[in-house]
Amino acid sequence: MAPAPPQAALVDRRPDRATITADVLAGLAVRPRALPSKYFYDARGSALFECITRQPEYYLTRTELELLPQVLPEIAAQVGPQARVVEYGSGSGRKTRLLLQALQDVVAYTPVEISRTALLDSVRALAVDFPAIEMLPVCADFTALPPLPPPQRSSRRTLLFFPGSTLGNFTEAAAVSILSGMRQAMGPQGLALIGIDLDKDPDVIEAAYNDVAGVTAAFTLNLLARLNREIDSDFDLSGFVHRARYASARRRIETSLVSLRTQVVHVAGQAFGFERDEAMHVEYSHKYDDAQFAAMAAAAGLRVRGAWDAAGRMFGLRLLQPA
Ligand code: AVI
Repeated sequence: MAPAPPQAALVDRRPDRATITADVLAGLAVRPRALPSKYFYDARGSALFECITRQPEYYLTRTELELLPQVLPEIAAQVGPQARVVEYGSGSGRKTRLLLQALQDVVAYTPVEISRTALLDSVRALAVDFPAIEMLPVCADFTALPPLPPPQRSSRRTLLFFPGSTLGNFTEAAAVSILSGMRQAMGPQGLALIGIDLDKDPDVIEAAYNDVAGVTAAFTLNLLARLNREIDSDFDLSGFVHRARYASARRRIETSLVSLRTQVVHVAGQAFGFERDEAMHVEYSHKYDDAQFAAMAAAAGLRVRGAWDAAGRMFGLRLLQPA
């Protein structure tokens, strides 16, 4: 019989109903209306995102998974042995596995992930494959990072891992603030390995967010289903459609839920009227060029120490250190 996986102590800071309700009410009170993309990731949303990553049009995950094994030996040499690895948004753990295999004698692994199901599933599986690494999961929003649990063994440095271009889901100001938080969390000897999507042919980018199988549309609409289940809201899912367009001047996909008709939505006893064709913003997915990314890192007190791009500049990995 296979040994039982080690128990992982969970630091749980999931957003509660009152927080989600307050965020939704705030987003519906402004124009254009907006809902936070972090609420995409309930259990179904995380499963749908996994499915997006396997769609032929969604080149990001596939390209990053191809790039990582090519460059990780070089990155591992720069990180050195006995690192503590902290990952923002652990997802399914496919990239984590590659990183933990490449690094030498990792002391502890701390995934910080808002979806409790995705977090626990990935840590359970990793604990079986990496029994020597202490698992210290944190269920939290990494933009409001709680103090991280200290590992039992002392580490030589902290490596922050933030793959998938999730940084791109934040405005430039918010991304700089996340990078500043990383600089603090990693300490003076720390490093950060970040996956970023690079600016390219708008048609290629737009197709990635409009897959023909409709998985991304289902993912976007699931946000409303989640809200109806978890807070006191009555969004009609048949009254909204997914729209994702690439705004080349701002180098970002802008995703909205567009109201198909005049309608009224209730949240926590308040009524919100929607016009026909009114777009409610739900997500940005920024694409970067080198100068812009380096400037953001510099604004956060970091500098780019290493850069690796996939063929055709489809996707990039950047290793950052305190400036
Ligand atoms: C998680 N994040 C990097 C994805 C992206 O590409 O912006 C989320 C996503 N939204 C729609 N498709 C994928």
